Amino acid sequence: MKKVKLGVLVSGRGSNLQAIIDNIESSALAAELAVVISDQADAFSLERAKKHNIPAVHVSAKGYKGKRDEYDALLVKELRKHGVELVVLAGFMRIITPALLKAFPNRVMNIHPALLPSFPGLHVQKAALMHGAKFSGCTVHFVDEGMDTGPIIIQAVVPVLDNDNEDTLSARILKQEHKIYSRAIQLYAEGKLKVEGRRVLLTDGRTSTDDHLINP
Ligand code: GAR
Repeated sequence: MKKVKLGVLVSGRGSNLQAIIDNIESSALAAELAVVISDQADAFSLERAKKHNIPAVHVSAKGYKGKRDEYDALLVKELRKHGVELVVLAGFMRIITPALLKAFPNRVMNIHPALLPSFPGLHVQKAALMHGAKFSGCTVHFVDEGMDTGPIIIQAVVPVLDNDNEDTLSARILKQEHKIYSRAIQLYAEGKLKVEGRRVLLTDGRTSTDDHLINP
């Protein structure tokens, strides 16, 4: 099977990137990392990529304040240069503009540490805790022009425990993020994702919750 070429956009530590690297190296994920791009020069993600001989590029956002579409055009150029088919946002802390979305229609994925559409935005593990939610989790979705609003591909549910704090809840959610992101990418690689309006259906008749009900 032809391997899907991924371009991963990052801003920070890159634990999701690492999980994807590990799953590719163990052949659990039929993909190839064509390039890792960071908007932050000192992102640890870039070190992770270099360690595995993956092209690692810093695209500085300096001088692009208020010109997000121009910055995204730089990303598109870099992604195309490396022959990327699927763009994977992994802790990339910028809003994506149509300049990138139009170049990769229904081919930009994001992971978010909450059960969307609840708790979009930032610091969402804390928000779930403060709200008194009994369950949180994580969501992989296709990116659209809104913030955390695109069609949902797969989710994992994580219970909120009475003695949780932001760190403990975040850590348990992160563990599930590392599983479902690769799973979503693998489903894409197998051509099994069909987008119908807001809904993403699995073409083999299963549902995307089959493997991920509640994860302690
Ligand atoms: C992850 O928890 C990811 O879900 C979150 O940033 C973290 C990045 O961690 N993304 C967002 O909040 C995007 N809205 P990582 O760099 O270790 O993968």
